[in-house]
Amino acid sequence: MSSPYNVRIVGDPVLRAVADEITDIDGRLVKLADDMLETMYAEPGIGLAAPQIGVGRRFFVYDIGEGPQALVNPVIQESRGEWTFDEGCLSVPNMSFEIVRPKEIHITGYDLDGNEVSIEADELLSRLFQHELDHLDGVLLLDHLDDDTRKDAMKVLRDRELETPEPKKRKLGGLSLP
Ligand code: NI
Repeated sequence: MSSPYNVRIVGDPVLRAVADEITDIDGRLVKLADDMLETMYAEPGIGLAAPQIGVGRRFFVYDIGEGPQALVNPVIQESRGEWTFDEGCLSVPNMSFEIVRPKEIHITGYDLDGNEVSIEADELLSRLFQHELDHLDGVLLLDHLDDDTRKDAMKVLRDRELETPEPKKRKLGGLSLP
């Protein structure tokens, strides 16, 4: 099954940019959220932030088994405790790391109808929110690792890139195009 977007992978500069506040919640944003959800389910993933499909705007979609949701202009108001979780990311494929972050957060933002929302989140949902909000600030889970672990991870990512075969050249009427 093809999904509407390709998820951007670490190395893509859009993943390192700070996304812009959303000023208009309109039909185009709702359509974008639908396409992002389709992309997220196809991967499959439980969360996807707009920069991961190349859109530098402050929102993400998610579903932890309670149905599709979106959060616009999210802000963490308060965080409490500590929780260790084996965290992965669609933009850093096939890797996961034990990362410690606050266990509970209070997050506010807007839904796709433009209503203010205020959510008390714990454990998995709290982790998802913190992870997706990082994407809006150009932060990846690699940035939460200690130096040695990060260096090892970057080496694995570089080696993987070297192993990726060159894209096949297309043949057009006897001409070979890169
Ligand atoms: Ni991610």
